[in-house]
Amino acid sequence: MSDMEETEGPVPPRRVIGTPPPGGLLGDGSRAGNGHARGDGRGDVGRRSDESDEAEHFEGKLPTDPPDMARAKRAERVVALSFIIAFLAGCGFIAAYVGLEVHSVDATLRSNLALGISLSVVLLGLGFGALIWVRNLMPDVETVEERHAPRSDDKDRQAFQEYFEEGAVTSQFTKRPLVRRTLMLATLPLAAAPVVLLRDLGPLPGTSLRHTVWSPGRRLLVYGTNQPLTPAEFSVPGSMITIAPEGYQDNQDEMAKAAVILIKLRPGELHIPTTYNGGTLVSTMNWTVDNTIVAYSKICTHVGCPVALYEQTTHHILCPCHQSTFDAANGANVIFGPAARPLPQLPLAVNSDGYLVAKSDFTQPVGPSFWERG
Ligand code: FES
Repeated sequence: MSDMEETEGPVPPRRVIGTPPPGGLLGDGSRAGNGHARGDGRGDVGRRSDESDEAEHFEGKLPTDPPDMARAKRAERVVALSFIIAFLAGCGFIAAYVGLEVHSVDATLRSNLALGISLSVVLLGLGFGALIWVRNLMPDVETVEERHAPRSDDKDRQAFQEYFEEGAVTSQFTKRPLVRRTLMLATLPLAAAPVVLLRDLGPLPGTSLRHTVWSPGRRLLVYGTNQPLTPAEFSVPGSMITIAPEGYQDNQDEMAKAAVILIKLRPGELHIPTTYNGGTLVSTMNWTVDNTIVAYSKICTHVGCPVALYEQTTHHILCPCHQSTFDAANGANVIFGPAARPLPQLPLAVNSDGYLVAKSDFTQPVGPSFWERG
């Protein structure tokens, strides 16, 4: 059957899944209300010469078929092809999700690539098909629904006022001030509801943010393996590792404050604070081990990202979030970026078993400078 033959003669009403019943929205125009359709001048359908004949042209009904049926048929095939491609890509997405391994970084990359490409094709196929559908198969008209003013008419407004006043009288609300006032009193506590909501944000932190679980003698564990460490096992200059406090290595709440980076420098690279004592230059606050191993808080003093990068040639500790840079050889002083103060240093010592331990807690609050002011 040709395209033109398909359109000749009366088309019996058919219910198609996903559409209104025959004689509904488009059939009798009853849902169009007071509205009318207006074309934009493209194609036969919707072409009009002036505002006065548009209502007559469409008679309150939307055109059910596009003007160029041959073009519509071609568009239909393109739409169907797009949806079939989207379907096949969707099957590919499921197959990639189920079938591709993700046990290594490379395998995960391959899986992500396949999932991303197949999902993109699904969305592109659906989007392209919908675009062609709308532009070539749907009526190219604008519909306008006339609406009355939202204000009620005077009669209704008068009726409501009388009804309201009658209710105020018959409910005794105006006649019984005791009831009225106690009702208002009863609702007063509701005004405190926002205070309750604020209270539910949780207890105030108090001074808990000033302290961590580091204490004298607590051993340093290598984060991940949870092994204690001796200075001899950490002997390669330029090394940097993450450290957890023994006993709290699996406690993420405490680790969020107590994580430490341990850095090994070459002899002579660390600038130990010194002062003259009785004419002799002595070191102060030497919290390092062998003058080459030093520990700093891993929590950036800007807004708390974990500092994670170390340049062994320059001794720079870098925060990846906003590029704050700290000098590991010089008390982790800030040399670049928005951080306002050095990374707090964890005083180190070696215990009788030869393991690295903390001499004390940090002497400065860790994390963003905001807390220091709190
Ligand atoms: S959090 Fe480190 S620079 Fe901003």
